[in-house]
Parts: sequence; structure tokens; C-alpha cells
Amino acid sequence: MNRIKIAFFDAKDYDKNSFIKANENIDYEIDYFDTRLTKDTVRLAEGHDVVCVFVNDDVDKDVIDALVEMNVKLVALRCAGYNNVDVEYAYEKIHIVRVPAYSPYAVAEHAMALLLTSIRRIHKAYIRTRDFNFSLSGLTGFDLHGKTVGIVGTGKIGRIFIDICRGFGMNVIAYDKFPAKDSDIKYVTLDEIWEQSDIISFHCPLTDENRHMVNEESIARMKKGVVLINTSRGGLIDTESLVEGIKQRKIGAACLDVYEEESNIFFHDYSNHIVDDDTLARLISMPNVIVSSHQAFLTEEALSNIADTTLENVKEFFENEYSVNEVCYKCPKVEDCKQLHNGKCF
Ligand code: NAI
Repeated sequence: MNRIKIAFFDAKDYDKNSFIKANENIDYEIDYFDTRLTKDTVRLAEGHDVVCVFVNDDVDKDVIDALVEMNVKLVALRCAGYNNVDVEYAYEKIHIVRVPAYSPYAVAEHAMALLLTSIRRIHKAYIRTRDFNFSLSGLTGFDLHGKTVGIVGTGKIGRIFIDICRGFGMNVIAYDKFPAKDSDIKYVTLDEIWEQSDIISFHCPLTDENRHMVNEESIARMKKGVVLINTSRGGLIDTESLVEGIKQRKIGAACLDVYEEESNIFFHDYSNHIVDDDTLARLISMPNVIVSSHQAFLTEEALSNIADTTLENVKEFFENEYSVNEVCYKCPKVEDCKQLHNGKCF
């Protein structure tokens, strides 16, 4: 086969550095494009075998049709979540692979960093002391020890976050659609998570079923002063309801690494622009909201693992029958899906 050509969308310097290093021994031809993959930019993939995409690239029906027409064979996600891919439509048209785990520690540790920053008012203290303001007024926090944390999603990241929380002496309860059978995790219903938790942290994928699981109704069930942490996907939270919950003093603080309308904003520098998104502007204006721009994954270890696994996925796809990291909407549901029988999904 000819040298494999990869069209790499939404490329940032840190991506390029890690992929250039990982590609040293493999030597694929990688074209790095700054732009996101959308139906307007998909033509850049012409002549490539693979498109490599991240969380905010659109792999919808139009993009899939265009990729198939251009004979692109593989969508290689360099992330774990794939809510930005129409996997059902892609079935039997184009294969999708992902990086299921690269550093769950990176994300879980960032969730704790956001929580501690928020409740101990570190973001305020940092700015004050830089201005030689050593007053403590308004900086009172609370102990994590003894507080109840509700974890939604007990996969790789959720479980590490559970361990971290236990290290702080917190009481951990959890909800998962598919609870782990052989664990010491105390599973409860989602309603019990809302009702009992002082802090709630989200570590589940975004699906049609759980979109806006944090909404007016669930917020009404929560404890007054609850702290929400979202390092998963923005769409889990209905942002308008979140803003309302904070304004009504029901929600004590929000730590957000993701935002449902992030795709055109996050990862870019708008410091010299007027941002049009009034909801995000309102959130950022609140003293008890911390927003980081989808950076929970951003550690050296994670970047290196992402690059190695992505290129390994590509190699495996073109050289082997079996794609261990293939994403298939049928696999969890249908017994005769080929992935279950040591092959590609179609
Ligand atoms: P995982 O696949 O190991 O675990 C996900 C867990 O969620 C599983 O236990 C699953 O049973 C559970 N789950 C599925 N549907 C659910 C539902 N409707 N309600 C409750 N639980 C449900 O995934 P991992 O690696 O722990 O990642 C979790 C999420 O973190 C990813 O889906 C992704 O959205 C997000 N993420 C965010 C990053 C960031 O930089 N902010 C980086 C990496 C992942």
C-alpha cells in the first residue's frame, strides 16, 4: 500500500508536537489543518486515507457522505468521547476508531483541581495577592472531609475520581447506567444522587438519553449550595437552567471544563473580541463559576498516549482484520456484530 495520508483537523501546536514525535518511526504523511472539520471544510480531506479529528469536529451525515465520496476510509478520533460523530449513519459507510483511554488521571485530577480552586476561592486569592490585597474577606471555604460526593459514571475516570475523593475522607455515592458488578462502590439512583450530594461530578458519556440530565427539575431536587463539576460533556447540563439555579442561590458553585456551545469558542483566543454568547458571558461573570476550556485531558502523559494510540489505531486498521478501538453503535447491542467476533464492525 502507498504511504498512508492523514488529514489532521483542528490541529494545535501541542497536538503537532506529540504527533510529530509519535510518527517518527511510523512515517505517515500527515497534513495538519488549523480549521475544524465541518461540511464546509471537509474538501481538505481530498486525497487522504484518514481524517484525524478531535471533540469539536463535526462528523455528521453531510461530512460522512463527503468523506465516503472522496474515498476516505477511516475517521480516527484522537479522543475518547464520540458524541460529535453520527456513528449510526457511519455504519457500513466509514469506520471510526477512537482512543478509549489516554490518561484518566489527567481528567480526574483536573476535576479535583477545579473543585478545590472553587471551594477554597484560590482563583480569587491569586488575583488579590498579585495586587497586594491580603484581605481574607469573602474567601471562606468549606472542608471536603465528611461531605457527600455523587459521581455520575463510574468508568475509568469516574473510578479514579472516586479514589481521589476517598483520599479526602469524603462519602462517595454513585450512579451508573451499567453499575460495575465487582466493586465496593455504593450505587444509588439518580434521584438519590441529586437529593443527597453536596458535590456532584459527571463522568459519563453524552448520549441522546442523558442530554440535559441537569435541568430545572433535577436542580430542584438538589441540596441548596450543591457544587457541580462537569469534565465530561457540556450537553449533560442545560446551561440556561444552571444559570437560573445559580441566580436563585440553589447551586453553590459550578466547575465547568466543558460547555454545550463550546465548539466555536473553546481552544481559541477571543481575548480581543466581543463574545456573542450571552449565556457563557453570564456564567463567566459569576464569582462562583470556574470555566476551563476543555483542558482536563491536557497533560504530557495524555498527549503522548493519544498520539501513540491514534497512530496505532490507523496502523491496525490498514494492516489487521481487527480494530480493537473501533466505535460501532451496534456493538453493545447486537450479538452478531462482527467486532464481537474478532473482526471489523462491517
Ligand atoms: P468510560 O467509558 O470508561 O466510562 C463511562 C461510564 O459512564 C461507564 O461506566 C458507563 O457505564 C457510564 N454510563 C454510560 N451511560 C451512562 C448514563 N446515561 N448515565 C450514567 N452513566 C453512564 O469513560 P471515561 O474514560 O471514564 O470517560 C468519561 C467521559 O469523560 C467521556 O465520555 C468523555 O465525555 C469525558 N472526557 C472528557 C475529557 C476532557 O478533557 N474534559 C477527556 C476525556 C474524556
